[in-house]
Amino acid sequence: VTHARQRSAHTSIQVIAHRGASDDAPEHTLAAYRKAIEDGADALECDVRLTADGHLVCVHDRRVNRTSNGRGAVSALELADLAALDFGSWKDHEESPDWDPVPGELTSVLTLERLLELFTEVRATGRDLQLAIETKHPTRWAGQVEERLLQLLKRFGLADPPAEGPSPIRIMSFSARSLHRVQAAAPTLPTVYLMQFVSPRMRDGRLPAGARIAGPGMRIVRSHPGYIERLHRAGHRVHVWTVNEPADVELCAELGVEAIITNRPKQVLSQLGRI
Ligand code: G3P
Ligand code: CA
Repeated sequence: VTHARQRSAHTSIQVIAHRGASDDAPEHTLAAYRKAIEDGADALECDVRLTADGHLVCVHDRRVNRTSNGRGAVSALELADLAALDFGSWKDHEESPDWDPVPGELTSVLTLERLLELFTEVRATGRDLQLAIETKHPTRWAGQVEERLLQLLKRFGLADPPAEGPSPIRIMSFSARSLHRVQAAAPTLPTVYLMQFVSPRMRDGRLPAGARIAGPGMRIVRSHPGYIERLHRAGHRVHVWTVNEPADVELCAELGVEAIITNRPKQVLSQLGRI
């Protein structure tokens, strides 16, 4: 890879903050997203799940045990139950010395609606911030996650971006069925098919119906860099997760991927010479 190509790849890679600036602040909290925005991230990533009373909340795990002071499955709890919990106190101070626990809204459960409010506020300032929303366990809910998600996006005027040009929102999933549902209901919303491994059917660079962008894990990139080239040759953009180590950022830049999803937006932007 020539130096010139590396430099141009560097400047064009989109840097997406994974669960917010989740190395520096507790994942999926307003604190983490505010930090990512402050750090200059191009986009934010979040996972969404449905509560027992039908609200979409930003939580990665099936249960709240790891990231809050409560217990139980998100799907079995109501929003009011989640609102009584603290999603910040688990974060280790030794590992994240910059993290100052602040009780209240900054570390309470984050609804997708609240995140969209913050997102809309930032975009209203003229900044082209983008948001990548991942549907979790969509098969269990038989379409309800996507239905709620699209309702909410519609309310914010974000469900039907023009087909050309960058969309403020994109939907990601490990479930092809979930992306298919999104594409059927909102054909101009970009969809990202997340992959943990390359299934034999997709070795030639083809993606499942309904998927527009490829989302391979960093493990795939390290072990099969040629696959990234195949995806590009097949005409797909490539968004890689979760890219935290400098050597991985460098490899992604060399391969010319379009976006990287990272817990450390500030360090990555600095490595890419953006700040
Ligand atoms: O952005 C994709 C990545 O977040 C997928 O893995 O487990 O962190 O949701 P996970
Ligand atoms: Ca995710």
